[in-house]
Amino acid sequence: MSKLRTVKGMNDVLPGEIERWHRLEGAFRDWVERYGFQEVRTPIVEHTELFERGIGEATDIVEKEMYTFTDKAGEGKEGKRLTLRPEGTASCVRAYLEHNLQGQQPVTKWYYLGPMYRRERPAKGRYRQFYQAGCEIYGDPGPYVDAELIDMLVGLLRDVGVQDVEVLINSLGHGETRARYRAALLDYLRPHAAELSPDSQRRLERNPLRVLDSKAPQDQAIAAGAPRILDFLSPEDAAHFDELRAALDALGTPYTVDPHLVRGLDYYTRTLFEIRGRGGDLGAQNALCGGGRYDDMIAQLGGKPTPAIGFALGIERLLLAMPTEAPQPRLDAFLAAQRPEDRPDLLVLARALREAGLRVETDLRGNSLKSQLRRADKSGARFAVVLGEAERAKGTVMLTDLTQRNAERREVPQANLAQVLRR
Ligand code: HAM
Repeated sequence: MSKLRTVKGMNDVLPGEIERWHRLEGAFRDWVERYGFQEVRTPIVEHTELFERGIGEATDIVEKEMYTFTDKAGEGKEGKRLTLRPEGTASCVRAYLEHNLQGQQPVTKWYYLGPMYRRERPAKGRYRQFYQAGCEIYGDPGPYVDAELIDMLVGLLRDVGVQDVEVLINSLGHGETRARYRAALLDYLRPHAAELSPDSQRRLERNPLRVLDSKAPQDQAIAAGAPRILDFLSPEDAAHFDELRAALDALGTPYTVDPHLVRGLDYYTRTLFEIRGRGGDLGAQNALCGGGRYDDMIAQLGGKPTPAIGFALGIERLLLAMPTEAPQPRLDAFLAAQRPEDRPDLLVLARALREAGLRVETDLRGNSLKSQLRRADKSGARFAVVLGEAERAKGTVMLTDLTQRNAERREVPQANLAQVLRR
């Protein structure tokens, strides 16, 4: 029989690793809630059409990376086409419209955390199931909120110890700008078609902007000479971008304007940004987070025209970029019973400590004290607490600090134990 394994590109996260995830997720929640974002949880599975219409049919994601299947249907009915979500933005917009939240508040600020699915070629920092933490804002046309969002991200990264980053920004303008730019780009690229990579040749007519962020060296050489979208912006788009930069300057947030930044999703308008990590263990997958404005999507999916902006950051990538810290004691105390018959009292004591908010582990199998203390040593607990016959009679326990070499045992009244452990 073959060994059972995870699906390619999908990973288990085990105890020992998960603590860093908790720290990062906690820091993310705490940080974005300071800016007024509220959590939303949408299903992992959606109707395929949502992503086709929301993300765009000519994107890599929709063309070839989605996990799509036909749901079982009743007799004589056709099964629905469903897809594991490849990102969170389209789902959030669907929820925003489905629950008629438009108009309830002038500005809605949401955040989410969870797994996403893309059938990409797995590599370090690139997986088929990966976790994103993201934010979306509906109802503010920017550009000040755009600057605040980018600055919030830089602050969050600094808060989790990732300082060595580069913030890239660009503007894609609105519909008309895009159409004029697309035409100019095609005029430039067509004569070079034969020199482009096979992927870019295939994309050329359908989605020429994607050629600009191709990683293939022959494409990059051609892209370097391509017209710049910033030269095509309408006066309103250009003013929006100027104000964004002035706001970032006022915040003191360093950034680089990258006129070839396009990113892989079709829904973006105006502000576009990406934050890349330079240090840590990142390797080639150095895009820690990306986002931008998508002012047309809500109307395209059937809502009243509403401006929107958001971003998502890749949890696994950020974990690669984050410094590793010495692990903290996982438990406050490990309780051991001197004799098997001391276990009922041990249960009572352990429960009281947990009710007092302490993290407590026990070994209830009736093993020798020596074996329990060996487990206590390995458990990552700060203290070992022994409950024996003599102590039971006096209402005390014996306490050893496991973080100190050759620490003295000391007797502590049970009534004071929670207080002592908390210190
Ligand atoms: P995205 O650039 O496709 O944007 O993904 C955002 C981040 O998710 C990336 O910067 C990266 O850190 C992480 N990521 C993407 N694909 C993978 C993968 N296969 N393995 C590991 N990490 C990955 C979006 O998804 C947009 N929804 C962001 C957004 C929100 N725009 C507006 N609102």
